[in-house]
Amino acid sequence: MFKPITWVKKDPEKNNVFWPSDELKKRAWVSDESIYAEATKDPVAFWTKLASEGINWFKKWDETYRWEPPYYKWFVNGKLNVSYNALDRHMKSWIRNKAAIIWEPEPPDEKERVLTYFDLYREVNKFANVLKGLGVKKGDRVGIYLPMIPEVQIAMLACARIGAIHNVVFSAFSGKSLQERMLDAEAKVLVTADGYYRRGKQINLKAEADRGVEGTPIQKVVVVKRTGMDVNMVEGRDQWWHELMKNAGNYCKPEVMESEDILFILYTSGTTGKPKGVEHHTGGYAVQAYWTTKWDFDLRDEDVFWCTADIGWITGHTYSCYGPLMCGVTMLEYESSPDYPQPDRWWSIIEKYGVTVFYTAPTAIRMFMQWGEEWPKKHNLNSLRILGTVGEPINEEAWLWYFYKIGGGRCPIIDTWWQTETGGTLINALPGIGPFIPTVAGRSFPGTLHDILDESGNPVPVGEGGYLVQKPPFAPGMLRDIWRNPERYKEYFSAYGEKFYYTSDGARRWDKLGDIRLTGRVDDVMKVAGHRLSTAELENAITSHEAVVECAVVASPHEIKGEVPIAFVTLKGGVEPSDELVKDLMKHVDATIGPTARPHRTIFTEELPKTRSGKIMRRILKSLVRDEPIGDTTTLMNPESVERLKKLVG
Ligand code: PRX
Repeated sequence: MFKPITWVKKDPEKNNVFWPSDELKKRAWVSDESIYAEATKDPVAFWTKLASEGINWFKKWDETYRWEPPYYKWFVNGKLNVSYNALDRHMKSWIRNKAAIIWEPEPPDEKERVLTYFDLYREVNKFANVLKGLGVKKGDRVGIYLPMIPEVQIAMLACARIGAIHNVVFSAFSGKSLQERMLDAEAKVLVTADGYYRRGKQINLKAEADRGVEGTPIQKVVVVKRTGMDVNMVEGRDQWWHELMKNAGNYCKPEVMESEDILFILYTSGTTGKPKGVEHHTGGYAVQAYWTTKWDFDLRDEDVFWCTADIGWITGHTYSCYGPLMCGVTMLEYESSPDYPQPDRWWSIIEKYGVTVFYTAPTAIRMFMQWGEEWPKKHNLNSLRILGTVGEPINEEAWLWYFYKIGGGRCPIIDTWWQTETGGTLINALPGIGPFIPTVAGRSFPGTLHDILDESGNPVPVGEGGYLVQKPPFAPGMLRDIWRNPERYKEYFSAYGEKFYYTSDGARRWDKLGDIRLTGRVDDVMKVAGHRLSTAELENAITSHEAVVECAVVASPHEIKGEVPIAFVTLKGGVEPSDELVKDLMKHVDATIGPTARPHRTIFTEELPKTRSGKIMRRILKSLVRDEPIGDTTTLMNPESVERLKKLVG
């Protein structure tokens, strides 16, 4: 059915550098290089044009950009509704009858669900009325703790419709993590499910949800019946989604939101033990989500777009919900594991639905590489025309495997650099412009400005590495604050002063074009299989175990997961290290954060290297696990501990 087209061509002079083919250039939304210079000349004027063309506003703004450091605002006094932009505006065109979400359940014998834009519109309207009926008002926080089922997008859009602020929590996080976030956000209502499928097993999500609700201000819990498993329903608090939807009205007028009203809060890990609630505001987020989705992936009416990110992360918010739906694109959603029932599940899904644009994480690519190319080879992947990656640096080997084995050497790889804080992608090559270079993300999205600085704040020359910063005007979709914690917000603008948003990422200036290679976090935030995790959070979790006195966690490079946490643990007097204890510690981490945070290795030690003032020297532990030179140990209180630790690390 799909005739493969060559979308890219090899640079005749440089091996492994690719450029868009003439066909791709002709077809792409953006293919003229001059867009960069034009946008840089006047970024505010550039975004003014994009905001007017991409988004339906109830009332136009009177000021495009206001900067009162460290705060900035976009489209001030503009009025809009994001659910209107994702749904209502498509009701007036043929898109109304197009598939919005194709949902593939994990059990292979269960039938898929297809929701047209009209179906989605109806469901969102009804659920918006349900939320209203539960007393949710504009500005109230609603917790969403759901697996990858269409109800998650319905719930998010319903919140956006009535102006409630959603706070989605990754369904693999523990009840305790949920509770911490619900308490901080002071959520009123929680939307969850009975369970979901994971590698063929039913996971009881509701039991975790119950733990998460305890002691929080949540008064009502809405439960989606996904698996039909037996779960505990609390009288007067818990209600079934389908029961509530039965009586809900078909239409709910979208709330008129200010551009700077909060759309959602999403918690992410920083360098402290406590996650921070990143705030994204309505107008700027919508504009960046819409245009980055359309241009980065060059989406057209006939595309089937699949972003594999879970909704619990920012990639899920922007590219598994808001971006594609605002673009009126058909989006694929898959419930669970990539290797169930076999390691070709993803490729079988691409073939089954003719996915054209596919966006995933380097970790997943490396995992598939390990499973072997025979799995993708079983399937016809000719429908693919654009590939994307996100979440962590991609190594050349994985890039080339993805390019040749999945993309058949035809599809450009769009390596998008961004963060929970930036709301949408910021650094990547555009399909119609290129170049596509393994390990090099690309240039700043038109209308955004980045720089790479050395320790003293001077820009580094081409070929050198430093710290990545963003310069004003800050991109419209960037965070506006940290929920109820402005001090932590200000930290982003403190490393190099208020004129620079500090990303905490290392980067290298690649060439004169402005291409950038990202080299990873330079703070105590790890990217474990693409998941963002703070060493401090994990240390807190382990230290809260009754057998533990002290703990230090450092990240160690890992072939597939990128990075993995290694925990150094000192036990209480009388407690002996054992395999049982390691298992118990894992269980404790599962219950405190979630299984994604489990240490890859737990090393029991009688002492940790410390300074004379008693501070743990994590730098030394890091060098030990990376097998790098230890450096100066003269400032240590216990330099002899280093030799002992060396033996333990092995
Ligand atoms: O270190 C960068 C890495 O992921 C961090 C942000 O993580 P999170 O907030 O979870 O958002 C991930 C999805 C947007 C960044 O500080 N990162 C993200 N994308 C890339 C990347 N590193 C290298 N290349 C990328 N394409």
